[in-house]
Amino acid sequence: MPFHLVSHPVAQDALVALRDSATRATDFRGLAYRIGLIVAAEATRDLASAEVSIRTPLETTTGRVISGDIVAVAVLRAGLSLIEPVLALLPQARLGHIGLRRDERTAQASCYSSHLPMGISHSTILLVDPMLATGGSAIMAIDLLKEAGARSIRLLCVVAAPEGVEAVQRAHPDVGVYSPALDRELNTQNYIAPGLGDFGDRLYGTGVGHDRSQEA
Ligand code: PRP
Ligand code: URA
Repeated sequence: MPFHLVSHPVAQDALVALRDSATRATDFRGLAYRIGLIVAAEATRDLASAEVSIRTPLETTTGRVISGDIVAVAVLRAGLSLIEPVLALLPQARLGHIGLRRDERTAQASCYSSHLPMGISHSTILLVDPMLATGGSAIMAIDLLKEAGARSIRLLCVVAAPEGVEAVQRAHPDVGVYSPALDRELNTQNYIAPGLGDFGDRLYGTGVGHDRSQEA
């Protein structure tokens, strides 16, 4: 499965403001939503559909409806930001959550919770996690999904590092990766450069430098 660079100008435009260190959480959420819509649209271009007959007020005609089961799975916390845009396009999607935490020193991911819908072996899984850095979190999430029976998985990101894309492709060559950005590299702390910093902290206003409680 190739890496899919989502070059849509609306996503690229929102990405500029998302990367900007001056952008605060309130705007960051809206920008992530906008990018999520475009990435989700690109990642679902080839979903299976079936012909149906419909009666308009004038006559009977045909159309196509999405025919398969869709499951959107968020990697907590940051992946939650991409669930609403996926549901805006696919309100029928079932939802799952995988809680992963990346150790700040070693960048090793560890799992603290996993709640997946039953019977996902014939479903199309949209795994959403905005940052693909070393790839450790994505690989762990895909491992868990495959253990639960998943066979068709697409990974939707906002910013990817070449190291992460390569690691996912090596571990799970059947998983398509969709992202509007393929950045230069990981830095020595395993952050994506140029990147946008810590997505979860910027989304929720947590972490060092996010205490605005004393501001007027
Ligand atoms: C971030 C991000 C990914 C992970 C990517 O999550 O949302 O899950 O790091 O890094 P990797 O490719 O090197 O594994 P983080 O662990 O910071 O948790 P958070 O979403 O709760 O902030
Ligand atoms: N997680 C983030 O939120 N940002 C990075 O650059 C790497 C991992």
